[in-house]
Amino acid sequence: MIPNFKLFSEIIKKYNAGVMIGVHTKENGGLAITLQDSIFLASFITYLQPKIIVEIGTGYGVSSTWMALALKANGLTSSRIHTIEITDRPLDIWGTFGVADWVTYYQGTTVNEVVLPENIDIAFVDEDHTEECVIESLIHLYPKIRPGGFIVGHDPIYCPGVRGTFRDFSKQNGCQIIELIQGQGLMILQKPGPGAIRRKKSEDM
Ligand SMILES: C[S@@+](CC[C@H](N)C(=O)[O-])C[C@H]1O[C@@H](n2cnc3c(N)ncnc32)[C@H](O)[C@@H]1O
Repeated sequence: MIPNFKLFSEIIKKYNAGVMIGVHTKENGGLAITLQDSIFLASFITYLQPKIIVEIGTGYGVSSTWMALALKANGLTSSRIHTIEITDRPLDIWGTFGVADWVTYYQGTTVNEVVLPENIDIAFVDEDHTEECVIESLIHLYPKIRPGGFIVGHDPIYCPGVRGTFRDFSKQNGCQIIELIQGQGLMILQKPGPGAIRRKKSEDM
């Protein structure tokens, strides 16, 4: 069964209407994640029912918008996405899509300015995709991920630094890893721990 049909029809309708396609192609020069990856993240959120999501690399806010739509559609009113962007870029996309209450936007980097929350359920790493940048993000994020929580890395297909760094890091830390080779690809690393799902609503599964 498709989890949360309403959410997916909302996401796909927005694409079909060309609203997000405008964002993908014009304003950000293709910086944003693909529809496939957006649907994966929304499914993952529907399944895991996370409370705390961190994103490194806000870009123009497309991925955080999809993730926030998933939180909203699942009625997760106390959940939040903390999204971090190095560039000084004013954004209002979350208000436009009615999800501003689910998103906190920080300008800076995890290394210098931004203090990460504790007990992160999902971290989405989508910054500059170099080995140096990815390892820096993993080192800062990992202690803040709750046991059983996840770090998802974007774009291993076109960026070997992402793939190699996630592989090495997961081996060194005894993590399980799934490599999802579709679209731009996703590396899904799970920190060892008791359980993946924080809260599950059976009617949505
Ligand atoms: C691929 S884009 C992000 C796309 C976005 N996640 C989406 O799908 O809509 C990468 C972004 O990461 C930002 N960035 C690069 N290095 C960073 C860092 N160390 N910390 C935070 N943001 C960073 C870049 O300025 C750029 O806007």
